[in-house]
Amino acid sequence: MSDNQRRDFIGMALGGGAAVGAVASLIAMKKTWDPLPSVVSAGFTTVDISSLKDGELMTVEWRKKPVYILKMAKDDADAEKYLGKRNFKIGDSIYTVGVQVCTHLGCIPGYDGEKREFVCACHGGKFNSSGVNEPGTPPPIPMTIPPFKVIDGGKKLLLGEAGEEYNQLSEKE
Ligand code: FES
Repeated sequence: MSDNQRRDFIGMALGGGAAVGAVASLIAMKKTWDPLPSVVSAGFTTVDISSLKDGELMTVEWRKKPVYILKMAKDDADAEKYLGKRNFKIGDSIYTVGVQVCTHLGCIPGYDGEKREFVCACHGGKFNSSGVNEPGTPPPIPMTIPPFKVIDGGKKLLLGEAGEEYNQLSEKE
């Protein structure tokens, strides 16, 4: 490498470094400018669950994703089995919450209240009523539990904020 070539190479390397640095600081500046509080407040959804009956499921939208809330049937064995893991209590009732998106390739599974399972029409994926993927079907992991908080004396859920009930679940992911 001649002296001129070496200088050019060093100049290019420095120039490249400067460009990367400029992009990094632009990103940092953009973060500072972004109106974070409004973005964060737009990420909350309050859901009135007071009219849910035993065994009844409702689906709401949270951050552009469907989220189910199921008041579990009293004789659903999976309600107790996953209590404290994926399910939680409000009073005497057991509830479960999850992002209703199949963990195989992202379709939206429907809930079959008779069989107490979620069924994904895309490739036959199944999850039990607690959102756990059934072995031998395509989904590799359970459905995600979104952060939530029980508010208003148990009448409502606030999706997007991690409350005590959410923090105590041991199998959130
Ligand atoms: Fe649900 Fe494939 S996307 S089974």
